[in-house]
Amino acid sequence: MFEALTAQPADKILSLMAAYRDDPRDDKIDLGVGVYKNALGETPVMRAVKAAEQMLWETETTKSYTGLAGDVGYHNAMRELVLGTAAAPDQVAAAATPGGTGAIRQALELIKMASPSATVWLSAPTWPNHPSIIRYLGMPMAEYRYFDATTRGVDFGGMLTDLDAAKPGDVVLLHGCCHNPTGANLTASQWQEVAYLLKAKQLIPFVDIAYQGFGDGLDADAFGPRHLAKTQPEMLIAASCSKNFGIYRERAGVLMAVSQDPSKTALTQGTLAHLNRQNYSFPPDHGARLVTLVLGDDALRADWLEELDGIRTGMLALRQNLADALRKRTNSDRFDFLAQHRGMFSRLGATEAQVAQMRENHGVYMVSDSRMNIAGLNAQSVPVLADAIVAAGV
Ligand code: LMR
Repeated sequence: MFEALTAQPADKILSLMAAYRDDPRDDKIDLGVGVYKNALGETPVMRAVKAAEQMLWETETTKSYTGLAGDVGYHNAMRELVLGTAAAPDQVAAAATPGGTGAIRQALELIKMASPSATVWLSAPTWPNHPSIIRYLGMPMAEYRYFDATTRGVDFGGMLTDLDAAKPGDVVLLHGCCHNPTGANLTASQWQEVAYLLKAKQLIPFVDIAYQGFGDGLDADAFGPRHLAKTQPEMLIAASCSKNFGIYRERAGVLMAVSQDPSKTALTQGTLAHLNRQNYSFPPDHGARLVTLVLGDDALRADWLEELDGIRTGMLALRQNLADALRKRTNSDRFDFLAQHRGMFSRLGATEAQVAQMRENHGVYMVSDSRMNIAGLNAQSVPVLADAIVAAGV
């Protein structure tokens, strides 16, 4: 049987991780996979998470199964974190999932089950695993314009025009904040316009929010999903705790299905539990429980917020430093968009050949589409990157 298997295409983000690891140069710079790193290049366990782990170690009395959809305390904590008061508890069905990717996969399976002919619309570009999973599930998909390669901002006109061509019942995947891979995001008023169009065209929003707190702050970053929850009849949200709690390997995510009509919630909740059962039975609990402890304890929550805000403002400073360094070197404002982008990533707008040149000549590792992880920089590497960008003729 195994001889019938064919080699699968390499994931461009994950293969870059391996290439970086194998590079013997001491001064190499890793701007690849979306993992936060401090100025020392470490990805530390956040203080509040460490404290919650100790608390859990001392108080946990069993490792027996949770519910099929995970722990209700976790659902409530995540609903409040992502949606605030935008949706009442009885309007939201939720299931814990293995990371944000698990939530995306379960959401797509729900769409396939409920509406097999629905096309899933993706931003061009998007996180490469979105189309990869949709293709794997054999679902119809289409792209809407999103990134303007000239301004490095959002091509909002193109986005609205393309979504206008969607048919009623189609699903529109939107990045809740901190767009991956571009770093270009919708403004509040653009979210409102998108919401208006979605409702008028009877399209269903599906929000992937994996970087809440990495852009303009926890609440500002949730403006889009909250506005949609208030205005749309139905929506799906896949949220990840990997980045904002720094618990990547624990695999903590949540899928939420929001409906204005609470009479639908029980049926949706049952479907989410069923989908978990079919794919992995019970979801992982450790990371979810840490998140619940941190969010439910005033002191831990305050400490987490402080550390998260430090991460966020640190990335903003790196953005500004890089934009300033490039301003100096090019005597132009061509790279000012780097300071305007938000979140962990910016798409630089370099060609594949320029990306390869920066890797070979300066040991700078960014994804081949020129996505850079800003958190991979520090005070020493900003000038090196600026030199590499100029030398490559970007
Ligand atoms: C990324 O985009 O780099 C992260 O979301 C990690 C991943 O799984 O691709």
